[in-house]
Amino acid sequence: MANQAVADVGLIGLAVMGENLALNMADHGFKVAVYNRTTEIMRKFIARENPPGGLVGCETLKELVAAIKKPRKIIILVKAGGAVDKVVQQLFEAGVEADDIVVDCGNSLWTDTIRREKEYASRCKFFGSGVSGGELGARFGPSMMPGGDPDSWRHLNPIWEAVAAKVDAKTGKPLESYVAGKPVIGGVPCTTYIGPNGAGHYVKMIHNGIEYIDMQLIGEAYSLMSNLLGMKAPEIGKVFEQWNSGDLDSYLIQITADILQQRDPVHPEGYLVDYVLDTAGQKGTGKWTSTNALDMGIPANSIAEAVFARCMSALKEERVEASKHLKGPPLLSPSYTGNREELINAIRDALYCSKICAYAQGFQLMREAQKEYKWVLNFAEIAAIWRGGCIIRARFLQKITDAYTRNKSLVNLMLDPYFNGQIQQGQANWRKIVSLAAANGVAAPAFMSALAYYDGYRSARLPANLLQGQRDYFGAHTYERTDAPRGKFFHLDWPEQTRPQITIIPGSGGGH
Ligand code: 6PG
Repeated sequence: MANQAVADVGLIGLAVMGENLALNMADHGFKVAVYNRTTEIMRKFIARENPPGGLVGCETLKELVAAIKKPRKIIILVKAGGAVDKVVQQLFEAGVEADDIVVDCGNSLWTDTIRREKEYASRCKFFGSGVSGGELGARFGPSMMPGGDPDSWRHLNPIWEAVAAKVDAKTGKPLESYVAGKPVIGGVPCTTYIGPNGAGHYVKMIHNGIEYIDMQLIGEAYSLMSNLLGMKAPEIGKVFEQWNSGDLDSYLIQITADILQQRDPVHPEGYLVDYVLDTAGQKGTGKWTSTNALDMGIPANSIAEAVFARCMSALKEERVEASKHLKGPPLLSPSYTGNREELINAIRDALYCSKICAYAQGFQLMREAQKEYKWVLNFAEIAAIWRGGCIIRARFLQKITDAYTRNKSLVNLMLDPYFNGQIQQGQANWRKIVSLAAANGVAAPAFMSALAYYDGYRSARLPANLLQGQRDYFGAHTYERTDAPRGKFFHLDWPEQTRPQITIIPGSGGGH
């Protein structure tokens, strides 16, 4: 029990992320006061692991507040939503003061963070930080996306930089977090100040939207190898292992290789993945990203498609029933009779091109959001802190860092010369895979939506002219003309007219 202010930082919420982040901070020499609503969990944690006395167990929030040096820095790692507000209120009752910094490190909705910062302004400095990397990341170095008052960031910075994952300054490759049991000193930390109020949580949400589509694309590559080539899980795992030594080198590809080669504990002659039920869960961050894309009018169709793919997977019973009635092309096994190596390479190219589109959508969202919220986001730095620690860490992120370093106002990632070149190289294969998927009835919504995004974005003219005609026809919604300046709106009295009369409507697009 603590009776004087000895701790550098406090942490509330000792689920696995909280425990691991506390241990990570303690390893880096910070004294951490820890609290959990169920005291027994805190006691067990302290009894189990207390790296050289770095943890101070607190049984009440009052004790926790008293144990931390001022201005207090208190990390909350509880379930996103109402629980965060509840803990903050309890902290006020426990003695938190206006200069104290209360940091929400959960996956909170960025608008909640904006609201909380304002609402609690007179009682504490509320700060939001995205943390990515799962359990291991929290323990050995996550990627951290802090957002809030810059002055609070100055206080938090030393802790964040110490505990974050590190990458090599030149290559951007993740470094070992611990060598001979000691935390690594040096390297570039995977954290940077993102911006005020909800900026950190917003960027974390985009990270998760990208995580969703990254995972879905990998799933589709697996499904295509399985359905088109009749390959079995461990064989596909080996392909991912190979891909992991090239441009696709990433944490998600690496774990996919492991997962596919994992034998089943119940049926050791088989592979685990073949026994895992094909219904995906989700906690909501991908949905938030997609909803936000719709709200801002940004075509992040592949990110949304990845969310819908999870929704589709969840309709297991319906799908099983429908599979008996809705027929597609006959399933040959393997259905593809061409060169197998070539097809595997084509799937890799399709995956890489689609991945570029997915990231382009994520960055396009951030570009729009910064206008909406008056943030100034540094995309090169955001890509740089995703190079290590987080779930989407990948060699690819060095390329994105380079792209935004070359041109910080890059309008779309696909327009960067490197990425444009990659798409040019891969697109014939990408189209081939999408065609094969369609011809053989293999669902590949993420590959397809990414290609639709690419083709839509590169189209100087889309069929929205006809759509505008339809809107004007049935609802007098007006249209702009190719031979008139932008912002000038026209309407035609469609059905009655034999000789059309054009009315010019002043101002913006009207209608009813
Ligand atoms: C991370 C992850 C993490 C997320 C899980 C589960 O960056 O460490 O994004 O924050 O909660 O990946 O998300 P879903 O349950 O929605 O798949």
